[in-house]
Amino acid sequence: MNILLGITGGIAAYKACELARMLIRAGHRVRTCLTDAGSRFVTPLTLATLTGEPCFGANPEYHEWRANPKVEHVDLAKWAELIAVVPATADILGKTANGLADDLLSTVLLAARGPVLWAPTMNHAMWKHPAVQTNLATLRGCGHLVVDPTVGFLAEGETGIGRLAELEDIFEAIQTLAGPQLAAFKGKRILVTGGPTREDLDPVRTLTNRSSGAMGVELARALRNAGACVHLVLGGDLKAPWGIDTVRVRCAQDMLEACENRWPSMDGLIAAAAVADQRPETYAPEKMKKAEGSETLVLVRTPDVLATLSSRKHPGQWVVGFAAESEQHVANAQAKLRKKDLNAVLVNDISAGKGFGAQANCLIPVTLKGASEPIGPLAKEALAQGVVVWLDSHLSGLQ
Ligand SMILES: Cc1cc2nc3c(=O)[nH]c(=O)nc-3n(C[C@H](O)[C@H](O)[C@H](O)COP(=O)(O)O)c2cc1C
Repeated sequence: MNILLGITGGIAAYKACELARMLIRAGHRVRTCLTDAGSRFVTPLTLATLTGEPCFGANPEYHEWRANPKVEHVDLAKWAELIAVVPATADILGKTANGLADDLLSTVLLAARGPVLWAPTMNHAMWKHPAVQTNLATLRGCGHLVVDPTVGFLAEGETGIGRLAELEDIFEAIQTLAGPQLAAFKGKRILVTGGPTREDLDPVRTLTNRSSGAMGVELARALRNAGACVHLVLGGDLKAPWGIDTVRVRCAQDMLEACENRWPSMDGLIAAAAVADQRPETYAPEKMKKAEGSETLVLVRTPDVLATLSSRKHPGQWVVGFAAESEQHVANAQAKLRKKDLNAVLVNDISAGKGFGAQANCLIPVTLKGASEPIGPLAKEALAQGVVVWLDSHLSGLQ
């Protein structure tokens, strides 16, 4: 995708250099447009070198960096399939919200054809000023996406809201706007579970499994990028992805309760969590002491999150489960599909060390009709995208 990265006059302008590289690594073509104030913080030469494209700007000194000095604001606006302004000053927000265009970036922004994203950064008092908030509301009202600043230590030595959002989050927000929207998911509410559960024995010991949660997180991202409103119920320690309502859970019972609250208003469920099947019968509030000789741990069944939610499906809702199988993959998956009344099962081959925690993975979609072509082996990000594309073309036939 052609992305125009607007860079304005804030100290965080240096971070835009790294963002440009992240976008290029993700396969985008990036051009930069620097304001005069922005050029005091980073140079056109840096940006032109990093992007391999001319750096555009209103300052005549930049013209030597342009491939075509005749390029005008409308050409650049037409070229850009997405404009991201990172960092965005109070000034550029105010100008665009009020229809002002007194330099190249502000003029291109008014002529924009595609989505516009803002990552503002400023002193906390500036951020809270009603005029800035009104301008942000106006831009949101235009359909622009604002990646809010975070609370932290600001360059001027004060602490408060106004720090540029994490680059990973801004990158994800851009990917969300850049992703092709898929008909099966656009505007749909999807519940995803991911990660391991932890069943505690005492305050320091726990029963868990080796699931990282990466599959659930990547599926949530891929669904978000396809246009869905995603709710993620997540065990484990992975960072919650940007733009996804994420609830953290510890044990199977927590996961069930978090899912039960959300399920009635969802269109579909993808259950990628590795939920513990058993938990210790009792929880010892104090650390258990070792005893002489052999010791016995009594386990009881945890609630079956997937079966419980599937049994409460209402018409139109669909449920996709995962199965980790080391043998007879398709037969075992179809048995699970029937038993739990699922629309599809994604079979994870965990034979010979594949699956949990592995970098590349393979999934076989199984329905009552049989197995589809395997998706993968692929890294989990690409695998999740493959699953979402498969679901997009098969979901209507599964309900
Ligand atoms: C050292 C320094 C840091 C600044 N940081 C910010 C900032 O983070 N956010 C902001 O809104 N303005 C900041 N400003 C003020 C802007 O640079 C100023 O409003 C400028 O006119 C913005 O122009 P532009 O929006 O065309 O880039 C800073 C100014 C200086 C001198």
